[in-house]
Amino acid sequence: MRLVFLGPPGAGKGTQAMQQAEQRGLRYIATGDELRKAIAAGTPLGLQAKAYTSTGRLVPDEVIIGLARELLEQPGAEAGVIFDGFPRTIGQAEALDALLRERGEALDAVLYFDVSSDAVVKRLSGRRVCRQCGATFHVESLPSQRGDVCDRCGGALYQREDDRAETVSRRLQVYQEQTAALLDYYRAQGLLVRLQADRSIAEVRAAVNAAIEATARRRAPKAAATGQGSA
Ligand code: AP5
Repeated sequence: MRLVFLGPPGAGKGTQAMQQAEQRGLRYIATGDELRKAIAAGTPLGLQAKAYTSTGRLVPDEVIIGLARELLEQPGAEAGVIFDGFPRTIGQAEALDALLRERGEALDAVLYFDVSSDAVVKRLSGRRVCRQCGATFHVESLPSQRGDVCDRCGGALYQREDDRAETVSRRLQVYQEQTAALLDYYRAQGLLVRLQADRSIAEVRAAVNAAIEATARRRAPKAAATGQGSA
């Protein structure tokens, strides 16, 4: 199964995508996480990306498409993939279609996390991330049981540089200008599934589960016809 989790920054995509990928044995591909790793390691990709991410702008398409190709070619993507934060422009969406086509694959659904700007600002200002394993917490809605330390791996929690108030408003603007057009792009392909994401983490999880189960049921006859298993 190949899914895209789409929505504004802070909508809760990463929280749900990581959990679903773990639960269903799917590969989790998050371009934002890969860029942060590259920045921390000081690689050429990281040096190139930092100026964009720290100011809330999108990293150029050619860089991101190259990164996505590399990630898809790594082992583990055969059973299925959840893309989080990619694609973010029409150019990236067309490139993803082409990359999957080369592999004899296609997207099964795009889950759109519909959430208000007010909720986004609240979520991002309280977000804390584990420096070691990347797990995401929130000081109010999902605190670590161990305070400033990750209760999964013991790593230190930190606040992302781009979660500062002025960068958050820029990211929201960039989402409206460059990413929101993907809603029509995927609606036209019959792939878009809208989720009301202004609810609690558990309620959103139930909605995500239902959407994925419905996609799996729709996909089963197609997979049987082509001899592919369903993830
Ligand atoms: P990226 O890391 O992808 O950031 P984003 O899309 O802005 O998304 P976030 O990670 O901020 O939010 P999320 O929806 O995953 O929310 P989360 O689950 O963490 O990208 C960062 C930067 O990298 C970009 O700005 C850009 O520069 C660059 N980049 C990345 N990909 C790119 C691409 N494809 N093209 C070009 N540039 C790219 O939740 C947020 C908080 O809310 C957490 O604290 C969580 O605990 C809490 N929370 C989650 N759900 C709920 C809920 N239901 N109720 C209450 N709290 C909740």
